[in-house]
Order: sequence, then C-alpha cells, then structure tokens
Amino acid sequence: MPTPRPIRKAVFPAAGLGTRILPATAVLPKELLPIVDKPIIQYGVEEAAAAGMSQIVLVNSPGKRILEDHFAPHPALDAVLARRGKSVLLAGLRDLTAGIELSTACQAEPLGLGHAVLVSRERVGDEPFAVVLSDDVIDADPPALRQMLAAYAEVDGPVLLVERVPREAVGRYGVIAGDPLGGGVHRVTDLVEKPAPEDAPSDLAIIGRYLLTPDVYPALEQTGKGQGGEIQLTDGLRRLLAQRPIFAVELDGVRHDAGNKPGYLRAILHFARKHPELGAVLAEPPGREPAP
Ligand code: UTP
Repeated sequence: MPTPRPIRKAVFPAAGLGTRILPATAVLPKELLPIVDKPIIQYGVEEAAAAGMSQIVLVNSPGKRILEDHFAPHPALDAVLARRGKSVLLAGLRDLTAGIELSTACQAEPLGLGHAVLVSRERVGDEPFAVVLSDDVIDADPPALRQMLAAYAEVDGPVLLVERVPREAVGRYGVIAGDPLGGGVHRVTDLVEKPAPEDAPSDLAIIGRYLLTPDVYPALEQTGKGQGGEIQLTDGLRRLLAQRPIFAVELDGVRHDAGNKPGYLRAILHFARKHPELGAVLAEPPGREPAP
C-alpha cells in the first residue's frame, strides 16, 4: 500500500446560520461563542494544530468577518496587556496563530455543508485535507484528528469520525453502514444523511471531523440538493464510495455538539470542570462570592 500523503490543510466550514442557538447568534457567529474562556472555533484550530495541520481554510460567509478577526494580530490590546504585565492573557492565542496560516474561502449563501466544502477547492488544491466542524467540540487524548490520522496511515482512503448514538437520535446525523476491521475502524459500505430511526443502517453517526482526498471535489460537484434542500457532504461521499473505499474510525473521547443549546451548555460544564482555576466555581453555592 502506498504511504498516504501528509495532511497539512484543515477546512473549517463556518458559513452556517447557527439558527439552533438563537438569539445568541443573531449577530455573533456561533463559532465565537465562548466555552469557558475560549471561543468554540479555537478548540478546533488547536486540535488541528496539534495534529500537525498548519494551514487553516476558513469557509466563511460575508457577514461573519469578525471570525477572521479573532485570529488576526491584536497589537493595541497586546500593548495594553504588556504595559499592565498581563501579556499571559493572550499568550495561548498568540502562540497558536504564530504557528498557522489562515486563509478564507467565501460561501455567499448557506447552500449546505457539501457546498461549503466545495468552495474550499481552490484553497486546498490537489492534496488530502481535513474538514473540521468546530461546533462539534471534542475532548480526547490523543486529540480526535490525531486518532483519525493514525487510522489514515493504515488504510488507503478517506477517514470519517463516527460515534455510536441512540437510535432515536440518528435522524440528526449522517449515518454509515460498515464492516468492522478491528480497533474501532470500519470499512464504509453505505452512508445515509439524516435517516429515520427505522431506516438507519446502524447507530454509527458521522461527527464533525473528516480526512478527505481531493477526489471528493468532483463528486461534490455532481451532487445535487438532498435533505433540507442543501448540498450534503454525506451525499457527495456516497457518490465517492462508488469509486473508492472509504473508512470510518470510532472516536475515543467526549464530544459535545455545541451548535445546539443543551450541547453548548454541556460543553461549558465539561470544560469548566476541567479548568484549573475555574473548576472550583461549579462547586460553590449559587450567588455567593467566597471570601478571598
Ligand atoms: P450545522 O448543521 O450546524 O448548520 O452545520 P448551521 O447553519 O451552522 O446551524 P443551524 O442548524 O442553523 O443551527 C454544520 C457546520 O457546517 C457549516 C456550519 O457553519 C457548521 O460549522 N455550514 C453549514 C456551512 O459552512 N455552510 C452551510 O451552508 C451549512
């Protein structure tokens, strides 16, 4: 089997409307909502950087430029913090942005996740790449993308991240049918977007990480509107499956869909509990600031 080409680029589709979390997202992009002290998208970019992906392609809509601003330099703020001896407050973000190159691709209208990936084509070119849906916030060791890269090194083809979900929840996801190969890796035999529970081929739901090969682009180009009148990535992958093998790996870790209100709250609680300084706050009685 040929050695797979290294994956340097990660596409972050972020041009959706975020309607499930309104009114918070009426003006503020969902990806900038904070989970404790970092915006949602920063968790994803940190995960990509930890997996050796240094080129981030943000698929953005014209109304969400503020998302790019988060990763831009902040000289005025930096100067004030330096004067106050508080440079450490921005240190993590500064280190992260120093190690990555961010570019954007514009999705003028939210025509679906498949379409969002398609508009990244020029930025990605003819090489394998990752897709990160940052509102699926994952806490895993090793990080989810690293788990996927380990599987990718063993198989010859795209790798999707999957998780077992309750049968009644399958209708919110793309779902795979697959033959288990051992070690949580499956060879995908079919994919269905948002199936009814009785039609779902399994309980293995695709969650927000993909390692894709560039042949997904022509497949997406030929993919028409599917579920919800949108161009679905799952449908494009189904088309690709007719031409080449596709694989899936089960996540070993904790995922929260921070794109809906209960999932967003669970993500906050999860990361707050783990936070070295803020975790203790959750154990305090409400409304009372303890004596210093
Ligand atoms: P979601 O299914 O979470 O859709 O998209 P959404 O529009 O962001 O949110 P809701 O459903 O209205 O609450 C999954 C990911 O794909 C991106 C979103 O930004 C999110 O990261 N996406 C979706 C696009 O970039 N473009 C699209 O046309 C659709």
